[in-house]
Amino acid sequence: MGKRPLLLLVCIFCWTTYSHSQQITWEMVEPGIWKGTVGTPEEFDLLKAADVTPRSGALAKMTPVNFPLDQEQIVAILNDRKTYLRFPLERGEQLFGFGLNFKTVYQRGSIKRLHVDHYGGSDNGRTHAPVPFYLSSLGYGVLINSARYLDVYAGSSARKDSPDAPEALDRNTDENWTSSPYSDAVEILVPAEGVEIYLFAGPTPLEAVRRYNLFQGGGPLPPRWGLGFTQRVHRLYTSEDVLSEVAAFEERGFPLDFIGLEPGWQSKSYPNTFEWDLGRFPDPLQFTKELLEKGVRINLWVNPYVSPDAGIYQKILPYTASHTVWAGVVPDLSIPAAQKIFWQPFRDDHVGIGVSGYKIDEVDGYDRWLWPDVARFPSGLSAEQMRQAYGLFVKKQSTALFREKNLRTYGLVRASNAGGTSFPYVLYNDYYDHRDFITALINSGFSGLLWTPEARASKTAEEWLRRMQTVIFSPMAMINAWASGTKPWSFPEVEQQVKEMAALRMRMMPYWYTSFALYHFEGIPPFRAMNLEEGFNDISLKNQAGSADLETNPYEEAVRKEVKDQFMAGPFLLVAPVFAGETSRKVILPKGNWYDFYNGQYVGNGEVIEVQAALDKIPVYVRDGGIIPMMAPRLHAPGLNEKTDLEIRHYGTQAGTFYLYDDDGITYDYEKGDFSWREINVETDRNGNLTGKIAKPEKGKPDTIGEITWKFMTDQP
Ligand code: GAL
Repeated sequence: MGKRPLLLLVCIFCWTTYSHSQQITWEMVEPGIWKGTVGTPEEFDLLKAADVTPRSGALAKMTPVNFPLDQEQIVAILNDRKTYLRFPLERGEQLFGFGLNFKTVYQRGSIKRLHVDHYGGSDNGRTHAPVPFYLSSLGYGVLINSARYLDVYAGSSARKDSPDAPEALDRNTDENWTSSPYSDAVEILVPAEGVEIYLFAGPTPLEAVRRYNLFQGGGPLPPRWGLGFTQRVHRLYTSEDVLSEVAAFEERGFPLDFIGLEPGWQSKSYPNTFEWDLGRFPDPLQFTKELLEKGVRINLWVNPYVSPDAGIYQKILPYTASHTVWAGVVPDLSIPAAQKIFWQPFRDDHVGIGVSGYKIDEVDGYDRWLWPDVARFPSGLSAEQMRQAYGLFVKKQSTALFREKNLRTYGLVRASNAGGTSFPYVLYNDYYDHRDFITALINSGFSGLLWTPEARASKTAEEWLRRMQTVIFSPMAMINAWASGTKPWSFPEVEQQVKEMAALRMRMMPYWYTSFALYHFEGIPPFRAMNLEEGFNDISLKNQAGSADLETNPYEEAVRKEVKDQFMAGPFLLVAPVFAGETSRKVILPKGNWYDFYNGQYVGNGEVIEVQAALDKIPVYVRDGGIIPMMAPRLHAPGLNEKTDLEIRHYGTQAGTFYLYDDDGITYDYEKGDFSWREINVETDRNGNLTGKIAKPEKGKPDTIGEITWKFMTDQP
C-alpha cells in the first residue's frame, strides 16, 4: 500500500474514534485529589451510597503536589451507551489494589470484572470488596466512582494506535514472542453514559493511599475492646452455654472482649426474624447485662433477609425487592422509610439492651442464592447497583445505631466497596486458605479495607497455632467457631503457646490503638504491603535464589518483588507468618536496620534473611528506632477512661519519636477534640545510654496512661 491510502485510512480511523471521544472536565476537590467528569455520570454511585465527609484538614497538611499524570493521555470515549476509559502506563510501572484479592498483589496484566461476590478462588474481580481503585508504583491512584460491574484490562490490552504498541514477532522463530504482548494502558469499560473519575496524587504510593483513605473520612477508630480477643460461639449455643464459655476463658486465663453469637440467637434464621430465641436466650437483657459486668460484649450475626415470621415483615414488604433470598424478603436499604423499619428491632432489642456490634453476613453473593440481576427494587436502583453498594448501606446504617448512643462499634461484614473505608467493619469469608488469607490482608491496605484471617478449626495443633499467630497480628483477633465449636485451648499440645499469643495481643493494645488512630487521622493503613514501606523498593535481591541481579536497574527489579506472605503492621513492625509444615522461611528486610521483636537482636538491613521459625513464635521484626508501647497482660480491654501502666519498648540504636494516641477508648468524643497525642522520645544521653521521655498529658484532655517503665530491647554497641 502506498503512503497516501494508508494516511487516509488512519484519518478515517481517527475520525471514528474521536467522534465519540469525550472531554474530561478536571477539578481539584481536595489538595492532591482531582475529580474528572465524563459525559453524564449516573445519579447513583459508590461515594453517594457511602456519603462520607473527607478529612480536609489532614489532606491540607500533606505534601503539595501537581496533577500526577499527563491529562492528554487520559482518554474517555462514549460508545454503545458505555464509557470507555483509558489511563497510561509506563514501562516498569506496577499496579496494586482493585480491592480484596487473595492470590495476587501485582495487578498489572490482570483482567477483571469488578463484581461483588463471595470469593470463588480466582482474582477475577469477583470478590467481597471489588474496589474500583488502583494504585501505581509511580505514586498515584485512580478511582472509578461507579456502582456498576466494571470491566478492567489492567495493562493487558494492546492498541494499534499506541505509541508503544507491541511489535509483531514470529512465533516460529523468535524466542521473544509472547502470548501477552506489551500493553501501555489500563482500560476500563463502564456500562453507563458517563462517570466520575478521581485521581489521587502521591508523591509516594503510600501518600496516594493516604489521600484515598482521607478522602473517605479516614479509617475507623475502633473502641479499645474491639482490638482485644473475640470468640464466635457455636451457632446453637444458649445463654447458659455462652456464660459457661465466658467462665472457662476466665478460669483458663484467656483474654476475651467480645463473644459473637451466630444464627441461633434468633427465633428463626435464613431468613431471619432479628428477634431473640426465647428458648435459647430467655432473658436477653439480663444476659447482656451480666456479660457487660464481666467485661465481655456481644456481637450478633445477621444477614438482611427478612423472614415472613419477623415482626417487621408486613411493614417492610412494600420496600423490598421483587426476588427473595432463602425465601426472605430483601429490604431496599436505599429508601429512608425502609431503613427506619428495618433497623428498628436492632435499635430497640439489640443495641438498646447493650449489644455492642454486628456481623453482617451474606451481602456479597454467590449468584445462586443472592438476588439475581433480574431483580427489581422499589427505589428504581438496579439489582446490579444494589449488589455493588449493599455492603456500604449496611455498614453505614448499622454504625449509626451506635453513634446515636455515642458508642463506637467494631464488627464484621462480608461485602464492601469504595467509600466504605471509615466504617468500623472488618471483612472475612468462608474460603479458609491460610496463605491466601495473608495475601488478602496485604491487599486490604491498598484499598481502604480491613480483613481478618479468622481461625475456625485446624487439622493439627501446628496449623492451629500458626493460624492463631496470624490472627493476633491482624485487625481482628478472632476465632470463628460457629460450626466447629473450637476453643483457643482445643489443641492441648499448643494451649500454652496460644495463650501467650493471645496475651501478646492484649499487651500490644496501646500499639494497635495508635496504629488505628494513624489510620483514622492520617489515612495510614494499619496493615499494609511491603510495597508501601520505605526502603523496600530500592533494595537489591541478588542474594535471593532464582532472582537475577538487576543492580544496574534497581527499579526494574523492585517491581518484580511480588511479596504475598509478609506485611507491615502499625508504624514499626514487619510480620512474616509461618504456615503449617514450614520450619523456616525467607524474609525480605527493607533498607535500614531491623531487630527481632522478641529479643531486640539485630537481624539485617536491606537483604533477604533465612529465618528458623520456632513453633511458638511468628517472626516479627522492628525498624531501628522503633517504639512499641505495651501494657500489662489483661483479660479485657481497659474500660472508659481507665488508666493502664505502660512498658515502652525501644528497638535498635537510633533515637526515636512516637506519638501515642489517647482518648476515652469508647465514645465518639474524640470527634469533638477529646483526644491527645503524647510525644515519646528516646535519645542517647551524655554517657551514651538511651533514655526515654514522654510528654505530660495536655490539660483537660483524656489521660489513660499510668506508670511508665522503659525497656531498651537492643544492647547498645
Ligand atoms: C457463613 C459465614 C460464617 C458463619 C455462617 C453462619 O456465611 O461466613 O462465618 O457466620 O455463615 O451460618
